[in-house]
Amino acid sequence: MSETSTFNKTIDESRQGEAIVAETIVTPNGKKLFLESYGCAMNFSDSEVVASILIGEGYTTTLDELEADIILINTCSIRDNAELRVRKRLTNFKNRKKRQPSLIVGVLGCMAERLKKELLEEEKLVDIVAGPDSYRELPNLIIEVEGGQKAVNVLLSRDETYADISPVRLDKKGVTSFVSITRGCDNMCSFCVVPFTRGRERSRDPETIYKECEELFKNGYREITLLGQNVDSYRWNMTSKGEIKDESKPTTNFAELMKMVAKVSPDLRIRFSTSHPKDMSDEVLEVIASHDNICNYIHLPVQSGNTEVLKRMNRGYSREWYLNRIEAIRRIIPNCAITTDIITGFCDETEEEHRDTISLLKEVGWSFAFMYKYSERPKTLAERRYEDNVPEEVKAKRLTEIIDLQRATGHFIKQGQIGEIHKVLVEGTSKKSEDFMDGRNDHNTKVVFPKGDFGKCDYVMVKITDCTTATLIGEVVEILSPIKSD
Ligand code: SAH
Ligand code: SF4
Ligand code: F3S
Repeated sequence: MSETSTFNKTIDESRQGEAIVAETIVTPNGKKLFLESYGCAMNFSDSEVVASILIGEGYTTTLDELEADIILINTCSIRDNAELRVRKRLTNFKNRKKRQPSLIVGVLGCMAERLKKELLEEEKLVDIVAGPDSYRELPNLIIEVEGGQKAVNVLLSRDETYADISPVRLDKKGVTSFVSITRGCDNMCSFCVVPFTRGRERSRDPETIYKECEELFKNGYREITLLGQNVDSYRWNMTSKGEIKDESKPTTNFAELMKMVAKVSPDLRIRFSTSHPKDMSDEVLEVIASHDNICNYIHLPVQSGNTEVLKRMNRGYSREWYLNRIEAIRRIIPNCAITTDIITGFCDETEEEHRDTISLLKEVGWSFAFMYKYSERPKTLAERRYEDNVPEEVKAKRLTEIIDLQRATGHFIKQGQIGEIHKVLVEGTSKKSEDFMDGRNDHNTKVVFPKGDFGKCDYVMVKITDCTTATLIGEVVEILSPIKSD
């Protein structure tokens, strides 16, 4: 799910020179912010919070890094190559900084949190290092840098959720949006750096989540994805043991939160990511099944098909448990797409254990999978406890094997959908051809179809006529009546 994106957003075209952030009119300070994001959806969503904070200080955003006064790179540490990509990107700014010494370069996000001050020593051009919980401090950090200092804030928080900040939408299409519901992670999977870079898990006030979704719908958005490292552990006014914190107030779990958000409008599609096999409850599945606007799509990362590997990974479930969850999904939501994440070549993984992942792949039939070679991360449980002893070429060979098989499975599933009619939310003109538009069906599969008398944000019914390994191709057979938000 690693992507890069450069964001730009004109806040309100009709009010040139003014930015409206959380109902406050801000006078521009004449400075331009260039913001680039790496890593997962959580980072993209955080960048919208960062933009909101700095626009509130008078900055305007730019897509052109050459005209920027401040460049912020929101980074990812999940695998070694994610960090290498950022390091490489930073070298691009070296000459720029020589020509424009006043240029401020900041590193945000997971690499900032992982490397802290070290980053300033290693990457001399960096002026600001700010971890995921210190974005409110960015205006002060910038002031420190303008005063000739380097500035670092990597304090992790137990309660920061940025719940009160109305994120500036940076995606220009205006159809789909991410909405964060939790931050951090308490799971400590042995391979994973996230608990170190994002800190303890905390849930965001459900009222603020509802309001954000309502606002998005009013602004024309038609799909939201509720985001958390483990959405199933979302809880409000409850301790991790399930005890009520304040008896006078209601509690909310993930199933209840989805029910709330689904009420914003039947025409607002709800997705969520990521579900955790150890915590995904039948209650959640029943809520999905009973709401037409909650998509029949579950991303359920398995990581490995072998119980011993799962134990070493500290995932908290076995192969059988995972299969039990798949059975529950199929029983409660008969037409549900399931996708996954897989890691090959984890510490001590034998050929036989790898075969178990292959057999699980065949047994489950995921529609799609994100597949990775294991990359050892400093300070994680796996780094301390096990040896990264599967040779690189074996990791790569196992990965290729899994990718090939998964691609064939995904293609087979799509071929079986030819002739079906799918409801698609139109997202815009297809990247491949000006004559086509694309969108996604309930299952989160991209569908491409010829242009017609409809536009982005419309729902259309598409008859599937063909497919590639990644995309469905079809023609619109019905345009669902345009939806008006009030
Ligand atoms: N919270 C999500 C995953 C977030 S990270 C969950 O628990 O499912 C996204 C994916 O990156 C993981 O599912 C895993 O497949 C992969 N990943 C994480 N750490 C990794 C590592 N050290 N090496 C290779 N892949 C890794
Ligand atoms: Fe990482 Fe595991 Fe938390 Fe996912 S659940 S973010 S893999 S520690
Ligand atoms: Fe990367 Fe941090 Fe997300 S490590 S995957 S950006 S939580």
